[in-house]
Amino acid sequence: MLSGTDIGEVLDHQTAMMGELASGTPLASVLESIVLALEEMMPDSRSSVLLLDDSGRLRHGAGPSLPRFYLEAIDGLEPGPRAGSCGTAIHLGEPVIAVDVTVDPRWESFRQLAADSGLGACWSSPIRGRDEVVGTFAVYHPWPYEPTPRDTALVGHFTHLASLAVEHDRAAKERAARDEADAARQAAERANQSKSQFVTALSHELRTPLQAITGFTENLQTLDLTADQRQLALEHIGLASSHILSIVDDVLDLARVEAGAMPFDVEVVDARDVIARSLAMIRPVADRKDIRVEPAGVPLVVLADSRRLRQVILNLVSNAVRFSPGGSVVRVETGTDNGHGLIHVIDQGPGIPANLLARLFVPFDRLGADAGREGGAGLGLVLARRLSEGMGGTLELESVVGQGTHITVRLRQCRVEDEARP
Ligand SMILES: Nc1ncnc2c1ncn2[C@@H]1O[C@H](COP(=O)(O)OP(=O)(O)OP(=O)(O)O)[C@@H](O)[C@H]1O
Ligand SMILES: [Mg+2]
Repeated sequence: MLSGTDIGEVLDHQTAMMGELASGTPLASVLESIVLALEEMMPDSRSSVLLLDDSGRLRHGAGPSLPRFYLEAIDGLEPGPRAGSCGTAIHLGEPVIAVDVTVDPRWESFRQLAADSGLGACWSSPIRGRDEVVGTFAVYHPWPYEPTPRDTALVGHFTHLASLAVEHDRAAKERAARDEADAARQAAERANQSKSQFVTALSHELRTPLQAITGFTENLQTLDLTADQRQLALEHIGLASSHILSIVDDVLDLARVEAGAMPFDVEVVDARDVIARSLAMIRPVADRKDIRVEPAGVPLVVLADSRRLRQVILNLVSNAVRFSPGGSVVRVETGTDNGHGLIHVIDQGPGIPANLLARLFVPFDRLGADAGREGGAGLGLVLARRLSEGMGGTLELESVVGQGTHITVRLRQCRVEDEARP
């Protein structure tokens, strides 16, 4: 049996192992400490732990003093009536003591391996987990050997310690899997919630122009309108229809980018050329408001999808024009920064209060701005950001109330040497 000194030592090892478990040390290291502790207390012995995998095979757990080729040879061992000491111990569900592996029939297939590894005796005990056997604890001696009562008591203790370590690891893994499942469920719930909010906002947004269309159509059908009144009603219907069309286009684009289903035809693009074309489309509106729209900056070649880049610039510049006062200037300036091409859209408009910045990229949120006659749906900025990201870039916004808004689109810059590459 165990002496007082033995018991003290076992307790010391047990305390150290508990510390390792509590600090989250990986299972392999804890098992290795247990094996080394037993080897220290049992001179001339070498030990190993094998763990059962899901398919019922024995896998390497720990065996710091055994040759690597031996550990590799028995990794994946299938339990059976003649599967060495470990495989047989699992098969029988009880300890197997092979006092002399050179004659023990259960070691017949492993004799050469044992000889090459310098193993003469092997005694293996099943490690029992909470509900089932989870592995084996083996003790080897270089020559024929029969365990003493002290050995039996020691191995009993260390096998128990190994079972605690395995159970602890299993519980931690179960907990982590549960946490992961919880997080995934919460993310799905959040996504579902924001989808419902999106659908509610979309329906709300479509309702106003649809009501205009039905209202004016009804008037046309039931009232005796003058030619001018009929013309006006038709104009309202036309405006409402194109508003619906643009919302539907934007929503579809947004959905496609978010689903990763929007094809981006990224190529070498002259940014100033795209800016010039976009500004030409916006100038008539800007002129009506007496707003000057000015391109500026350095020549810039970027990697982008020219059609999507134009969509981004149009969204940003039309915001700047829509929200800025007459007589002000909107600058669209190119620049570079450390391998990136920058496109700045800078206005002298009212700016956006800091407390509203978080809502800027929320679909359909106009931050209280009136949609008005030619007002938008509140999709432009979020779409511009998603499109920029889809081209491998970013979109950032800074705004100071009373001074204006500054948006920076950052894209991959294409230098001359990149262009020359096939
Ligand atoms: N340059 C700007 N200056 C001041 N406020 C702005 C500016 N750009 C956007 N905003 C504010 O942010 C809101 C959201 O902008 P966003 O472009 O997403 O939608 P929108 O312009 O209202 O509609 P849409 O772009 O769909 O036609 C705007 O309604 C406005 O309140
Ligand atoms: Mg807009």
